[in-house]
Formats: sequence, structure tokens, C-alpha cells
Amino acid sequence: MSSGGFRRVGVVGVAAALVFGVVGAVPLRPAGAAVVCDPAVPETCTLRQLADELGIRIGASAEADEVEPGPYADTLGREFSSLTPENALKWYTTNPAPGVFDFDDGDAVVGFATTNAMEVRAHTLVWTQDTYTPDWVKAVNDPDELAQWVAQHVVTVAGRYAGQVQRWDVINEPLATAGTALSDSVFHRVLPPGWMASVFSAVRAVDPDAELWINEYGTDWVPGKHEAFVALVRDLLAAGAPIDGVGLQVHRPSVDGPDVAAFSQQLRDFTDLGLEVAITELDIPIPPGGDAALLDQAQAYRRVVASCLAVPGCTEITVWGVTDANTWLDGLGVFPTPTRPLLFDDGFAAKPAYDEVRAVLAEAVLARRAGPPVDAPTGPVTAAPAFTG
Ligand code: G3I
Repeated sequence: MSSGGFRRVGVVGVAAALVFGVVGAVPLRPAGAAVVCDPAVPETCTLRQLADELGIRIGASAEADEVEPGPYADTLGREFSSLTPENALKWYTTNPAPGVFDFDDGDAVVGFATTNAMEVRAHTLVWTQDTYTPDWVKAVNDPDELAQWVAQHVVTVAGRYAGQVQRWDVINEPLATAGTALSDSVFHRVLPPGWMASVFSAVRAVDPDAELWINEYGTDWVPGKHEAFVALVRDLLAAGAPIDGVGLQVHRPSVDGPDVAAFSQQLRDFTDLGLEVAITELDIPIPPGGDAALLDQAQAYRRVVASCLAVPGCTEITVWGVTDANTWLDGLGVFPTPTRPLLFDDGFAAKPAYDEVRAVLAEAVLARRAGPPVDAPTGPVTAAPAFTG
């Protein structure tokens, strides 16, 4: 939470009608970027340079204090083209009390992204998990009142960053963390059916240029959760929700999997709905100590990245942090620590996982440059075959 002053905003009654009733710098050259990237020599490239040629985004999350000058910011600006504020744009940060807003952390992270020509995946307007919903919001049990507060929040926050962020996680984790039913959330309990579609429409109205995404945890490994999420997204689309993309967090439970063919199909299940799909919060914990686990981790990262590259419409791979030193997983109390789940170690040195991600991106660039196989049928010109990793 920043120490900056709070801004008081009157309750915006009209916003409720909008949402629920009636119906929005010269980028610095990343420090230390390789001058000329030759994908045949991956060491000459950054992740960002390779991803740019593939037309996808490679991203990372960051906190406001992590974008201050230093090795985190240097690595972030050099290697990544997309930035997700880890906590700065969450409701408990931006709207800690009724009608009170605090954008200091959000402004810092979004400002860094703008300065470094990075796109922003703004995260998240409505997190449908009571654990992370401010108490003052959870205390509201009248549907009309809660609708007004949600409308004010969404319109005020999305309105502030209109034109500054490229996409929003409009709704995060609408399903139960380890299950397939709707999550335990005041928003699900109190608001009328159809509230989620209404929120998407309100964000579209206040920021017509931003892509609108829905984001979910565990669909890659919790039994049945992928199918439940596909069904929910289909229902929202049928209800007219203006959704542009689906974020899959891919917090992997271990270095096992994912099976590339099966995970690629999960991604296609969403692009088949006409949506973009992205890996939004990738991290892969390993046991403390020893180097063998680092190599297993590198192969797991390869499988995740190859799955996305195999699917036209998978447009982003974001890792949930830059350095192992700051991972949320070390405080989770689930895995033995240090969990070492990311691409850079505590001292910001590239790990085997970084090298493997860079290698698989470079292979995809070379495959794309080579074009379709020379013995390809002489029929209509088709796009280069999707990379299979
Ligand atoms: O900033 C305060 C600090 O002032 C205070 O002293 C300290 C102790 O209370 O808390 C600090 O805030 C913490 C914040 O991270 C910043 O470090 C919160 O307690 C803590 O709950 C929060 O955890 C974040 C968690 O979401 C809940 O918001 C993690 O950093 C963040 O990595 C995690 O990210 C989520 C995604 O948003 C959604 N998908 C799952 C993912 C993991 O839970």
C-alpha cells in the first residue's frame, strides 16, 4: 500500500445504471538489450526481441517498489514487453475504503511500462474471492448498493487508466480455487445473475480501446476446472459479455507436465470461441537446493511455452515475477522453500529456465523465417505452420 494521499470520489450513481441498469513517451531502449539479435545464436537475443518477431508478448509482473531504478527494473525493461501490476491495481489497493481511491502504486507501475514501451495487463478490477476483497465491500449485502459500489469502482479505476493500459483482467478467478463451482465471493452471493456480463459492458463503455479479459487459476491441473471455465466463458459470451481474451494463470504445481498436446488443446478450446488466450502468471516451483531440479524446471518451462507457440491466438506468456527472490510462493506455506520458481535467480542471473525459454522462442523464430516446408502442396498460400516445439 503506498503512503500517498487518498483521493475522495463521490458515489457515482449514474455508473450503476451504466453497469447494471441501462447500459470510455520516446520509449527508452531497454537497458542492456542485445544490439543485434540473431536467433541462430540465442545468446545474442533478449526474450523481448524474440517474442516481438513472433508477434507475441512476453511479460512479467511487478510491484511499485520493483519498478524503481535497480536490477529488477533493468531486467524487466530489457527482457519483457508486457507488464502486469502484481498488486497495484487490485481493489484492496486502489479502493481501500468507500469512495476512497489510491492510485500511487498503479501510476508508478503503469508509468514504468509506458516509459519502457511495454504493454500493460491491468490486474484486476473484480477478484471474485472473498479472501482478497476489502472488508467494507464484503459487508454490503444489499444488491443495489453493492451494484453501485462495483460500478463506481470499475468506472473510476478503468476510467483513470483509459488509454494507458492495453488490456484488463476485468474479472479474476470466478471459479472456486480448487473446484469447478462458482467461487465463494460476495459478488456472486449478492449481485443478480448476469452481473459479470454487466461489468464487462461497463468497462467497454469507459475504455473502448482496452481488451477485456477474464482470468482463472488452476485450469491446467485442477480436475474438471478447464471444462468448467470453458462452459462459463461460453455462457458469458452468450449473455453478450464483450470478452476479448482468456487468461490462464498456469501456476504449475511441480516440474511435471504439462503435456504439450493436451495443454495446447486447452488453449485451442478458447481460441475456438474466437478469443485470444494467454498464459498470465506462470511460475514453476522446484525443491530447495541442487541443480538437477533446475534442469527439470527448464524443460517444464519449454513445454509451457511450446504449447502456447503451437496455438495461433495464444498471444502472451507472462511469468509471475522476475527474480526468485521476490516470489509469492515462498510465503504461501505450501512448498518447501526456497521455491526458486522463476527465470532469474536471487541475484538476477539467468537460470537454465531462462535459457530454455529463449531457446524455444529462437527455434520458433527460425522456423517462421524458414517458412512452410519446400514440399508443401502448391495450393493456396497458407500461414507458416504453428511451431510445435
Ligand atoms: O504491502 C503490504 C505491506 O505494507 C504489509 O506490511 C504486508 C504484511 O501485511 O502486506 C503487504 O501486502 C501484501 C501484498 O502481497 C504485497 O506484498 C499482502 O499482504 C499479500 O496478501 C499480497 O499477496 C499477493 C496475493 O496475490 C494477494 O493479493 C501476492 O503478492 C501476489 O503474487 C498474488 O498474486 C495472485 C494474483 O493476483 C491472482 N492469481 C493468484 C496469484 C497468487 O495468489
